[in-house]
Amino acid sequence: MAAIELDGIVRRFGDTTAVAEISLTTARNDFLVLLGPSGCGKTTLLRMIAGLLEPTEGRILVDGRDVTALPPRERDLAMVFQNYALYPHLTVERNLGFGLSVRRTGKDELRRRVDEVAELLDLGHLLGRRPKELSGGQRQRVALGRAMVREPQAFLMDEPLSNLDAKLRSGTRTRLISLHRRLDTTFVYVTHDQIDAMTMATKVAVLNQGRIEQFGSPVEIYDEPATAFVAGFMGAPPMNLLPAELGTGPDDDQLVLRAPGLELPLPHRGDPGVREVLLGIRPEHLVPAAAGELRGRVDIVENLGNEEIAECEIGEARLSIRGARPIGLTAGAAAAFTVRPEHVHLFARQSGRRLAWEPDPVPALVS
Ligand SMILES: Nc1ncnc2c1ncn2[C@@H]1O[C@H](COP(=O)(O)OP(=O)(O)OP(=O)(O)O)[C@@H](O)[C@H]1O
Ligand SMILES: [Mg+2]
Repeated sequence: MAAIELDGIVRRFGDTTAVAEISLTTARNDFLVLLGPSGCGKTTLLRMIAGLLEPTEGRILVDGRDVTALPPRERDLAMVFQNYALYPHLTVERNLGFGLSVRRTGKDELRRRVDEVAELLDLGHLLGRRPKELSGGQRQRVALGRAMVREPQAFLMDEPLSNLDAKLRSGTRTRLISLHRRLDTTFVYVTHDQIDAMTMATKVAVLNQGRIEQFGSPVEIYDEPATAFVAGFMGAPPMNLLPAELGTGPDDDQLVLRAPGLELPLPHRGDPGVREVLLGIRPEHLVPAAAGELRGRVDIVENLGNEEIAECEIGEARLSIRGARPIGLTAGAAAAFTVRPEHVHLFARQSGRRLAWEPDPVPALVS
């Protein structure tokens, strides 16, 4: 178990800044997911934690100890890569034990740890096989097991599920979650897949261009995205974001959101200080309603079996709507939608930052 602390980490490659000032702290048994689009600096950051790459600036602490200058083997962290290179000529058993045999671990101890890991990962019946006789998911488990037998302080994983098909991915996620519970060890897991983050993480750091956009629990990140970038990255389909103007109503200082095809009164008063906003609504929070405030036309309806996803044109914007089947929308027909005030997210258009408002009794928007 280890708590990992990143303190002002920067990494430049010539003129490219791959990681720009990242600071965060994990608790001892966190499952930290580093989430972000391709090129945002995830692998670079993980390699620095592992000791495979030196930061240009900043410090890395493991359990309060500064390891920034230590080589990988002295950090006691195990890394599982995307292309888990197993030794092709060795059996599963010898692959699993390899890291220990080169460390001259005693025979009995090696046996005990390999058996334990094989049982945990359900590899017992495959110990005599070679990697080419395994499925992708089984190989992936062997790679994980090889890291586990070392009983490291933390696991560092770079997109370990990316080679697996959807069903295996979801099965392996479940396995990783229960593994994390049983081992009570820090996991740092890199992915661009928001479902990985939602299902496995205790903490998520959403990265964009080498910076942290938001750091929090999966629920915080889903329910209260700090920026429009985070909102547009989480969820499938992601949150709808449409440009709107924030103004006041005709009678008093009640706030009203306006956009083509939309006039939405908000239960808030006062001056938000910002007029140009992005209105964010999750696809599952748009409810078809004849007298709804958002009016437009249905473009397509996709049937997912249990659910349907519709694409609609509202003014100049395109919105996704998700609901249980039948969703009650017809391609080509006019449609109207309503949204509950608590499901409305607002972001300043310029900065992308979330506008948060104070709860009752006197609601007012603050930026
Ligand atoms: N050795 C290097 N030399 C120069 N630039 C690099 C090097 N390694 C990474 N970069 C650049 O740093 C940025 C971050 O790269 P990184 O590999 O960390 O991204 P990533 O988030 O892991 O992306 P992906 O999801 O595609 O794996 C990219 O712009 C990349 O081109
Ligand atoms: Mg990468």
